[in-house]
Amino acid sequence: MTTYGDFPGARPRRLRTTPAMRRLVAETRLHPADLILPAFVREGIGEPVPVSSMPGVVQHTRNTLRKAAAEAVEAGVGGIMLFGVPAHKDAVGSQGTDPNGILQLAIRDVKEEVGDALVVMSDLCLDEFTDHGHCGVLDTEGRVDNDATLERYAEMARVQADAGVDVVGPSGMMDGQVRVVREALDGIGHQEVAVLAYTAKYASAFYGPFREAVDSSLKGDRKTYQQDPANARESMRELELDLAEGADMVMVKPALPYLDILRRVADAVDVPVAAYQVSGEYAMVEAAAERGWVDRERIIMETLTGAKRAGAGTVLTYWAVEAAQRLARG
Ligand code: PBG
Repeated sequence: MTTYGDFPGARPRRLRTTPAMRRLVAETRLHPADLILPAFVREGIGEPVPVSSMPGVVQHTRNTLRKAAAEAVEAGVGGIMLFGVPAHKDAVGSQGTDPNGILQLAIRDVKEEVGDALVVMSDLCLDEFTDHGHCGVLDTEGRVDNDATLERYAEMARVQADAGVDVVGPSGMMDGQVRVVREALDGIGHQEVAVLAYTAKYASAFYGPFREAVDSSLKGDRKTYQQDPANARESMRELELDLAEGADMVMVKPALPYLDILRRVADAVDVPVAAYQVSGEYAMVEAAAERGWVDRERIIMETLTGAKRAGAGTVLTYWAVEAAQRLARG
């Protein structure tokens, strides 16, 4: 008697025979609306400036940022995450809290351009604005001062919300940042602005090209505030705290080396989970593809699918527009 729970009755290859069959049984589907485009806008430039370590990515002018946002809408992308690069940086990151700072202007521009057709998000962190490149202000010993930094974050939340942002993304990994940001928003009547918490953010070498993208002068590293790549349980503690402090959505970052964390976080919560496919993940693929060593388009879709399969509902990716266009073509 043949049993069908075993070979030769059981043949899993039957479900892989044709593209139509594979499409029918696919467990994970990418959709343009799952994708969020991170974008850089730099003060005081007349033309977009290419980021050399991220081929295809630029520091936008205010004008080209508007066009990029409109293009993202056209492609059906779900959101845009804005990063500002000011012309002048200082020890406390003054431009990050100036109502007329580049990030606040960019939020206004993009909201004016796209309205509610795209969820507009902003990075809420000081490293783009400080001359030392750290995510917070420093104490007299040169250490990142957690609680003094929180006061700066509260002010950033207020000016970004006043500029019209839909979602703020506190990414500095200071203790208590979600609570302070939530209270600051509520304190000025911006209950509607959501918080996307960078919950499990690792001290990663994969952020390398981002330093160029925001003209960062960071010396040293962020290991006293970002998480150790060796730790997984610590992410669950960060998760508990962020939820208790009022996070509406949570994020794991980077994506590819931390898919196990993504899975654990996604299994543990009932809020939306995002993954950030960071600058180094992008650069690695672009560099290998440029040499003809890998199939660029397949790797892009495979890495995005991997993040979704691991539990991400949304993925921040520098390929958002390209991937969305490809998905729309089918
Ligand atoms: C902090 C921030 C960083 C990134 C996003 N937000 C840099 C860092 O933490 O060192 C990195 C994103 C990327 O590498 O693509 N403002």
